[in-house]
Amino acid sequence: MSEKKILIFYGTRYGATEGVAGKIAELARENGLQAEVYNLKDLPDDKIPDFNNYDGILIGSSIRIGQWTKGVKKFVGNNKDQLNSFKGKKGFYVCSAYAADPDSYDRVKVEYTKDACEKLGVEKLDLYDAFGGLMDFSETSRMGWLDKKLLKVAAKVASGEKAEDDSYSDLRDWEQIENFALEFFKIL
Ligand SMILES: Cc1cc2nc3c(=O)[nH]c(=O)nc-3n(C[C@H](O)[C@H](O)[C@H](O)COP(=O)(O)O)c2cc1C
Repeated sequence: MSEKKILIFYGTRYGATEGVAGKIAELARENGLQAEVYNLKDLPDDKIPDFNNYDGILIGSSIRIGQWTKGVKKFVGNNKDQLNSFKGKKGFYVCSAYAADPDSYDRVKVEYTKDACEKLGVEKLDLYDAFGGLMDFSETSRMGWLDKKLLKVAAKVASGEKAEDDSYSDLRDWEQIENFALEFFKIL
């Protein structure tokens, strides 16, 4: 039997979603699948691969103020017909701070993935999940000062605790991510 092939498209702002895309690709290869990974920020419309040559498509997005990245929004909106008629399996994930909060997880898992896809006309995701994100206030962070400030305010409201300057926490649960990937490979 020939190797199954998957496409992974992602949009990231601070790196968490990108890291998850890389991890899923690595797991795919370890499990005998071919995986191609595309950052939607750098992917011109005429370079988007023909979905029909693949068995599965995964899309990942960063969340900022409840929204996907511009690249993910544009990609899903522009390709909704191709995604709806795709014969393989479709999965979606997000990286978001609220996903790491047990009280918000069930809500954001649906709201940021399935509901947001349906609003843009993409139906029937086969798998979706929400993973925690990066709370990176260090000097090497990809976050600008305004984003750091906004996230600190949100973190204080959510946890009641002030995030320290220079602190770094990775809220991604790698076991959850691996289970998601393996589940996706299984349904292909
Ligand atoms: C300005 C700002 C706004 C954010 N808004 C949300 C939000 O509305 N919901 C949420 O769950 N996480 C929110 N986050 C947390 C991000 O989703 C988290 O940092 C995640 O790592 C983003 O993915 P990325 O690292 O791939 O860009 C926000 C972060 C920042 C800096």
